[in-house]
Amino acid sequence: MAIYEINGGHPLNGTVNISGAKNAAVAILPAALLVCGKCRIENVPDISDVRILLDILEGMGADIHMPEPHVVEIDARAVQCTEPNKDLVQEMRASYYLMGALLGRFGKAHVALPGGCTFAYRPIDQHIKGFRALGAEVDENAEYVALSPGPGGLHGSRLCLDLASVGATVNIMIAATLLPGQTVIENAAKEPHIVDLANFLNTMGAHISGAGTDTIKIRGVNCLKGGTYTIIPDQIEAGTYLAAVTATGGDVTVQNVIPKHLECITNKLEDMGVKVIASDDSVRVISSGRLRPATVKTRPYPGFPTDMQAQVCVCMALANGTSRLTESVYETRFFGYCDELKSMGASIDITTKTATVTGVDHLNGATVSAHDLRAGAALVIAGLAAQGTTRVQNIHFVERGYEDLIGKFTAIGADIRRIET
Ligand code: EPU
Repeated sequence: MAIYEINGGHPLNGTVNISGAKNAAVAILPAALLVCGKCRIENVPDISDVRILLDILEGMGADIHMPEPHVVEIDARAVQCTEPNKDLVQEMRASYYLMGALLGRFGKAHVALPGGCTFAYRPIDQHIKGFRALGAEVDENAEYVALSPGPGGLHGSRLCLDLASVGATVNIMIAATLLPGQTVIENAAKEPHIVDLANFLNTMGAHISGAGTDTIKIRGVNCLKGGTYTIIPDQIEAGTYLAAVTATGGDVTVQNVIPKHLECITNKLEDMGVKVIASDDSVRVISSGRLRPATVKTRPYPGFPTDMQAQVCVCMALANGTSRLTESVYETRFFGYCDELKSMGASIDITTKTATVTGVDHLNGATVSAHDLRAGAALVIAGLAAQGTTRVQNIHFVERGYEDLIGKFTAIGADIRRIET
């Protein structure tokens, strides 16, 4: 078991190069199963969720090469398997995109229910609703989902999601790309990685319009050809480094980002008193002095992301006054890290959906445990800002989604090490 050991209290200064977006990569890689040719996918983050997905695809018969770092070439023409390795599928959340990809390519799938971060009850009823609307028969139980064509066959369809689920929008887009007829998804999610998936599929020959709005139209095509596509930068990785410099103080530029995607985050950091300077593909944050308290409510894009809730909570814990942080996507997400922050001296009161965070003068180093990816990232930030030494356990959660976290933080002045225990 490895841990991170952090000696806190060093301001962060310098530049961080942001990797490709995890949540785009984990949608685009399974979608490559639809492509009848070679896909070259660039800016793929080197994180464990991606490595697991590549292992799954390879185990299914896909020909995969990594000719250089962050570049994956996939040729899935030889794949015949519609039942991906159960153990690997259960190691991550986004493996459920194999359902849509296999349904779209073969008309059938038998996929174990996914694993991944369990910070909340995470049903997939909207994915199932979408598959049924496309004409699939769904056999669902506690262990797997099996999909096959219903009596009328598979076809495009119009459906309205009960809530704007990222995962359901992705799965339905992937499944519908090769089906006859037009599919219309109403109340679709609008996150940047939805747009990135649509751009990838369109580059390969799909006809998808409206991604980034709440109505997405997919006109089915007979086949997708190969091509080259570059994944967008990771909004949440960038936001995490910006929150880190906000909490610790310093002057950090995140580069290779899309500043528009970060506005929902930087607007709140500015409210807390940091200076933000955006340019074409970078955002600089300068943080000095005590932070101001803020009011933040998480919402689907373009709102403040739930995946930044824990990181901004650390900033609030160090502000001069009382902040309110309301979660509207995953009610139970506070429980993954607030007790750990309290053990470092934070003052946080939680009612069902809202954390009231009364800022303290400083946090103290402690031994804490990550319970999910973003909770782990928040504990790293807390350790960087705290006085003394912090040890973060369960870091495999963090390594799911942050490429070279140690190298990137060390390069901007942090004292952080990965230790095998
Ligand atoms: N929901 C349902 N039924 C469904 C699907 C979702 O009730 O069929 C509910 C969820 O319980 C939740 C809300 O809808 O309350 C939103 O869930 P969504 O489906 O949008 O989330 P997801 O697809 O499971 C993705 C990201 C998460 C991120 C959320 C919200 C990926 C692989 N994961 O999850 O990312 O928190 O969207 O933006 O894209 C992370 O990166 O750390 C992470 C957890």
